[in-house]
Amino acid sequence: MKIAVVGSGYVGLVSGACFADFGHQVVCIDKDPKRIEALKQNIIPIYEPGLDDLVSSNVKQNRLSFTTSLPEGIEGAEAIFIAVGTPSRRGDGHADLQYVYAVAREIAQAVKGFAVVVDKSTVPVGTADEVARIIRETNPDADVAVASNPEFLREGAAISDFKKPDRIVVGINDERARAVMTEVYRPLYLNASPLLFTDTRTAELIKYAANAFLAMKITFINEVADLCEKVGADVQQVSRGIGMDGRIGSKFLHAGPGYGGSCFPKDTLALVKIAQDNDSPIRLIETTVAVNDQRKRSMARKVEKAVGGSLRGKTVAVLGLTFKPNTDDMREAPAISIVQALLDAGAVVKAYDPVGTEQAKLVMPSGITYCADPYEASEGASSIVIVTEWDQFRALDFGRLKSIVAEPILVDLRNVYNPEEITRHGFQYSSIGRPGSEAI
Ligand SMILES: NC(=O)c1ccc[n+]([C@@H]2O[C@H](COP(=O)([O-])OP(=O)(O)OC[C@H]3O[C@@H](n4cnc5c(N)ncnc54)[C@H](O)[C@@H]3O)[C@@H](O)[C@H]2O)c1
Repeated sequence: MKIAVVGSGYVGLVSGACFADFGHQVVCIDKDPKRIEALKQNIIPIYEPGLDDLVSSNVKQNRLSFTTSLPEGIEGAEAIFIAVGTPSRRGDGHADLQYVYAVAREIAQAVKGFAVVVDKSTVPVGTADEVARIIRETNPDADVAVASNPEFLREGAAISDFKKPDRIVVGINDERARAVMTEVYRPLYLNASPLLFTDTRTAELIKYAANAFLAMKITFINEVADLCEKVGADVQQVSRGIGMDGRIGSKFLHAGPGYGGSCFPKDTLALVKIAQDNDSPIRLIETTVAVNDQRKRSMARKVEKAVGGSLRGKTVAVLGLTFKPNTDDMREAPAISIVQALLDAGAVVKAYDPVGTEQAKLVMPSGITYCADPYEASEGASSIVIVTEWDQFRALDFGRLKSIVAEPILVDLRNVYNPEEITRHGFQYSSIGRPGSEAI
């Protein structure tokens, strides 16, 4: 089957490489010539574990290729996926659909013969209808069916998520799309990933509802963690205790500095806007958004408390900048707000991230020093703050750290360590929602 994927970012590139690995013939298209040039030279423009091998093996087997030309890329494709960005629109928080609509117009001008145009980007309810309308308006002769196929992969585990999804959601309004989409995903449902067919509006809402629910779950446990700090309970045991209940489930119950990333912040906000526009506000998500925004910055106060008051002139080592481990994605990373608040409080910030430094430099507040490893960052520090739980921060050499810091204080915003273990090393330890944590 011939498939085209428009947009070769985290979702487009992973989807394209995985489709090729299933045996389909795939062309990945992107309007960024640097990105396509890099891909042609086997350089992967994003950090995603395993993606380099998957791309290069499928390129070698002639199942995967790259182009900047949409007309060339979609030629003969039975399914054309749209996987471009849908960031928050500046000013009002609605999803910005300009990139999706631009691709729809380009497809309309270039498509020959019947094709299914598939929205894989996360898009508001009604977007598939609008994409169909734009295509009809741009080229009344175009013969397309528009489907909605939201993506649920997580960065850092994107390939396994794509290849072993809990479910595949496909929204269709035109029956001709069913056969094509069934064929696209045949290798997956043979491996028992259920294919859930709905109409396009339902599929679009499933994606937002799923992300909003997960964001709400994280925010719930974060607020429970705050309560734990006040009453002397342990949030990790609360998480275990409630997570063992099959109706609740153990995932997304890790207390931390607040959710970030390329999806949850913009998707929760977009759902809030969709709901308000339709006179059906979802207050739980409105509150989730507000609580989470507040939380990131408040983490700096935790550091302030840990050092016993003022941060002015004190050096803080920040370990981990990306919004989660195993990605270089810095979009809406909690580290951005936390570091800004630390700087506002007068701290000197030295930061280290295993792979995100280049991306971080583009979005982090200026005036911080980027270091080559956790030890360089910790030299002369009055506190070390773990912001992102990269594996390499799970076994730090505390003997070495103790000899180079100004004050042995660890603020662990991801509950990576066991409190007794750290105090045994002679460090003062503060974490999230566990006995001994500083309530803010
Ligand atoms: N990143 C994730 O973990 C994730 C997970 C699920 C869903 N999504 C959704 O998938 C969509 C894409 O997200 P992403 O993180 O892959 O975005 P991204 O920013 O990494 O990639 C988007 C790519 O599209 C390209 N592009 C934009 N306009 C184009 C055009 N007219 N023609 C060709 N290429 C064009 C850009 O150059 C860029 O390379 C978003 O709607 C997002 O919400 C993302």
